[in-house]
Amino acid sequence: MDATQQKKLSAQAAMKFVEHGSVVGVGTGSTVNEFIPLLGTRKHDIDGAVASSEASAALLKQHGIRVLELNNTGDLPLYVDGADECDPHFRLIKGGGAALTREKIIAAASKKFVCLIDHSKRVDVLGNFPLPIEVVPMARSYVARQLVARGGHPVWRPNVVTDNGNVILDVHGLRIVHPEETERDLNQIPGIVTVGLFALRRADVVVCAGETLERA
Ligand code: A5P
Repeated sequence: MDATQQKKLSAQAAMKFVEHGSVVGVGTGSTVNEFIPLLGTRKHDIDGAVASSEASAALLKQHGIRVLELNNTGDLPLYVDGADECDPHFRLIKGGGAALTREKIIAAASKKFVCLIDHSKRVDVLGNFPLPIEVVPMARSYVARQLVARGGHPVWRPNVVTDNGNVILDVHGLRIVHPEETERDLNQIPGIVTVGLFALRRADVVVCAGETLERA
C-alpha cells in the first residue's frame, strides 16, 4: 500500500474521534488534507474548526466548514494532525510544512491530540528527519550558532516565511535520545519561536495506516 493510501486510511479512522456539536482542531499537511474532505461530510454536525495554517483554513472553507479563532473557542476536545516522525512513545517531529507554531499552540489547547501517520514516519529515535525550528528573522544567525554548538547542522529553509512572519531552520544531524530534555533546552534560546519537537505535549493517540497504535 503506498503512502497516500495509508494516509487516507488514517484520515478515515480519525473520523470516529469527532464529536457531535464540537469544534475540531485541524493541523496542516498532506495527511490532514485527506481528513478535511471527510470532515466536510459532517459540516452540519460539528460547530466548526480551528486551523493551524492559512492553507488548512482555506481548504476547510472550501469544504464548507466554519473556521473559528482559537481566541473565541476556548480549549478544544480534539486536535487532528500529521507528523514527520513518531517514536514508540508518541513523541513527534513536526514542522515539515512550516506550520509548527500554530500546531503546537492548538495541540496544547486540546484535550486529545490524534496524530495520523503512515509507516514511513515510524522511528525508534527521532532526528533522522531534520528538526524544523521557527526563528525570528533577526536572530537567525545567532540561533544557528547555538544549534551548531549543540552538534546540529542548521540549514535555512529557502523561500519560506511562516504564517507568523518568521523563518525556518532545519537542523540536520541530531539523534534526539532525550526529546523532552532537548525540547526544554532549545526552548530557552532567545530568538527561537517554536521547536518542532512535540515531546512535552506529545500525541495521545497515533493512527498509522488506519490502525490505532498502543504507546510503548
Ligand atoms: C506541518 O508543519 C507539519 O507539522 C505536518 O504536520 C507534517 O509535516 C506532516 O505532513 P504530511 O502529512 O504532509 O506528511
